[in-house]
Amino acid sequence: MTLPLDFNDRMLSLGLARVSEAAAHASALWIGRGDEKAADQAAVNAMRDQLNMLDIKGVVVIGEGERDEAPMLFIGEEVGTGNGPDVDIALDPLEGTTLTAKDMPNALTVIAMAPRGTLLHAPDVYMDKLAIGPGYAKDVVSLEMYPTERVAALAAAKGCKMSDIALCVLERPRHEEMIAELRETGASIRLITDGDVAGVIHCAEADITGIDMYMGSGGAPEGVLAAAALKCMGGQMWGKLMFRNDDERGRATKAGITNFDRIYARDEMCTGDVIFAATGVTDGSIVQGIKREPGYLTTETILMRSKTGSVRRMIYRNPIK
Ligand code: FBP
Repeated sequence: MTLPLDFNDRMLSLGLARVSEAAAHASALWIGRGDEKAADQAAVNAMRDQLNMLDIKGVVVIGEGERDEAPMLFIGEEVGTGNGPDVDIALDPLEGTTLTAKDMPNALTVIAMAPRGTLLHAPDVYMDKLAIGPGYAKDVVSLEMYPTERVAALAAAKGCKMSDIALCVLERPRHEEMIAELRETGASIRLITDGDVAGVIHCAEADITGIDMYMGSGGAPEGVLAAAALKCMGGQMWGKLMFRNDDERGRATKAGITNFDRIYARDEMCTGDVIFAATGVTDGSIVQGIKREPGYLTTETILMRSKTGSVRRMIYRNPIK
């Protein structure tokens, strides 16, 4: 009988950074070219190739889609060499395909790894999200509060006026009413066109990014990735799955979800230790985008471990092949 191998997050983390770097390098050629699909495909191929070099027995739990709709990095795909610990993999080879195609800020390649069975198998539905950075009392804000109440509660906790609170929200017609309500508080709102993993991460570094709180609905898979990042950096997050029809409820059932009304706190989306890596594709507030110089590409990657709370930013300069 072989004993299960430990999740040696310290040793595995550098490998994970290589995976997100490889996806970013591959998508570099597609920045600003107006072709979302090609950019995404390049990142998927590179991420998968690099992931399969890692000594892990990995299963993709957050991936490119269901097996019948995504040929690569689909949910349930086994990845890695098979020699190593059993791990869950959550990934988004290109978070912000449109941002990349239009050369707009904050496109990232993103991947998280955790012991098997510890990441929420979120179906591809929307999730209502709320996040704040570290340093606040537990549950100082909640998804159950009205958006304006959240601003008031956070301002009281921060000891500032509501108009000093800065929010980040995805600019979508479905958020118009919420944004109108939030305007009444006087809080400032940074509207982003895409990329809510970065949106949530902004809260963890409020001094640098200027963002105190993230709220609104976006992809549930992206929600789990953001929860993994905040678990490493500190900060609180909550997510509630949103279902528009029976097909979406069916996807959730298939993923093992039984309570459709549950609000997941950060550590319920990510119940164990986790490592997280993201590489900048276009310039952003978390990491810089890819830089080109003759013969070389340079990337910046943020690599983090929840066990230690360590946050590394790594610059990687590599010849173009
Ligand atoms: P893609 O990179 O797959 O295009 O996703 C970008 C994104 O903006 C996510 O960050 C976000 O969670 C989701 O799309 C929002 O979905 P929608 O565009 O349907 O509002």
